[in-house]
Amino acid sequence: ITFNFGFLSITIKTMLREQIKNQLKKAIKENIEIEVFVPQNDKFGHYSTNVALKLGKILKKNPMELANEIKSQLGKQTGFTGLIDKTSVESPGFINFWLSTETIQKEFVEIFKAKKNWGRPRKKLLIEVSRGKPFGSDQSKSSGKKKIIVIDYSHPNIAKPMSVAHLRSTIIGQALYNIFRFSGWKVVGDNHLGDWGKQFGILITAYKEKLTTNNQRPTTKKITIKDLMKLYVDYTSRMESDPKLEDAAREETKKLQEGNKENIKIWKEFYRISLEEFKKIYKILGVKFDYYLGESFYAPMLPEIIRDALKKGVAKKSQKAIVIFTDKDKPPFIIQKADEAYLYSTTDIAAIKYRVKKFKPDTILYVLDNGQSLHFEQLFKSVKMLSYDNNVNLIHVKFGLILSEDMKKLSTRAGRHISLEDLLNETIIRAKKIVNKKQPSLSEKEKNKIAEIVGIGALKYNDLSQNRQSDITFKWEKMLNFEGNSAPYLLYAYARLKSILRKARFKKYDSKFTKHLTQEIELKLIRDLDEFPDIIKRAVEIYYSHNIAEYLFSLAAVANSFYHELPVLKAKKGEREARLALIGAISQTLKTGLNLLGIEVLEKM
Ligand code: ARG
Repeated sequence: ITFNFGFLSITIKTMLREQIKNQLKKAIKENIEIEVFVPQNDKFGHYSTNVALKLGKILKKNPMELANEIKSQLGKQTGFTGLIDKTSVESPGFINFWLSTETIQKEFVEIFKAKKNWGRPRKKLLIEVSRGKPFGSDQSKSSGKKKIIVIDYSHPNIAKPMSVAHLRSTIIGQALYNIFRFSGWKVVGDNHLGDWGKQFGILITAYKEKLTTNNQRPTTKKITIKDLMKLYVDYTSRMESDPKLEDAAREETKKLQEGNKENIKIWKEFYRISLEEFKKIYKILGVKFDYYLGESFYAPMLPEIIRDALKKGVAKKSQKAIVIFTDKDKPPFIIQKADEAYLYSTTDIAAIKYRVKKFKPDTILYVLDNGQSLHFEQLFKSVKMLSYDNNVNLIHVKFGLILSEDMKKLSTRAGRHISLEDLLNETIIRAKKIVNKKQPSLSEKEKNKIAEIVGIGALKYNDLSQNRQSDITFKWEKMLNFEGNSAPYLLYAYARLKSILRKARFKKYDSKFTKHLTQEIELKLIRDLDEFPDIIKRAVEIYYSHNIAEYLFSLAAVANSFYHELPVLKAKKGEREARLALIGAISQTLKTGLNLLGIEVLEKM
């Protein structure tokens, strides 16, 4: 039988399930929905069905008897024995299936051949398992259009140091970027910088003041974000007791917004200084963006948004401000203040309108901490009310805080001044100490490279392997531990697999050796590898990656026992090649998975 699944994205695993379903359908002849699932424990088979229980209810018959009848009927059907090796009936009426070794071996050839594409959803796949023919796949692109996703992440504020929340957003956003792209989406990464608003009037005033008191261009000394931050903080604290200072700042904001040349020039300077520092961090993290459309980009569109919202009757005047009532039990969503200033919310409405028109996305993701939930809830409602959304799927990808080892909030704000760059460098220094101890004979250059990949990998993995919405702790020991569920463990596992392949001079593989993969742990590894596409699919559905991390960790652990349990380099001909190929497929899957998390791998460690 040939199943043609057309343009459906489908994995081999799903396909095997479909085949079992079809076999059951033939055996039952009753028109009921058949469910085939993967049991948690292999003890209950590779697949299992409750169809006899369902049928028992309908026909008022004993489900155990029915299950046995179905089992014996299946055994007589063509195509069944090649697919399934063992069938068992389990009380109160489950039927469990074990795939035949031959079927699993065929899966392996498919996985091995896919190489770095293993895990991508398949658009089109034809299989002829039941005729005992090898899997034939057609991975050609479907004629369907690619789905488009815009990811709004990182988004720090100009003239303010990047915070740990921005760090989380950057790491999570980049992982989502990779995962969606790998899954065949067209991805637009946008850094919505906080680069507009009244804080710039304050800064410009403070900056000009400093110019006159210093009576020199401050550019003689390099200004950093920290200096700008200080200017801002000092000025605002003086502003509290002196209203004249506030008027001056308001005046400068107004001039900036009206395009005053001098103010624009100073603002651009703030922009340059800030971006230079942000880019240092992006470089360490290996992060790039397709666009930097900050808040200022949308400024010219804001008056029209207000006019339109009023015209449509969506927005109303309320105590001189202009607001949208999104819900009865929630505060109004303010889009223009009494002093006519626009807000963060107005810009976000304009940004959705713009993005929908420019990128025609199916989905827009906002990667921000839990704290902004209300803002996004109201924003999404408002754009629907304004009919700007064009049915785009708007998602707030929420995350928790990063806590320090003593469970306190780790922040760059008042009190605890942690610069992100220092934090990243500290991680690398700590990783270097470990590398020094483990690999004293390596050259300094090699050690530095390893330390950088291990340190940054550890930081990312610590974030991406945990539940997205819970607060995560920042524990150096755990992050950099080579034994536990950590990036160093996975990187080391990968490097060891690669070193076996190097020693064996493993290059090409002939699938005629596949028949030698018969040991339980080998078959388990193949079935684990086969799960990878489903793992990726799930990550796309939940907008997160901790299931990828979990999967990689368990794959690495099983691979570890595999080469301790069975000889590889010293195995006899045929087995040796087959086991090397298995190691090849495992290492490739580890690499693909780690890369999706934004973690680079090392061939040697
Ligand atoms: N700059 C903002 C902050 O630091 C985040 C911007 C998020 N993106 C957005 N479209 N609102 O909190």
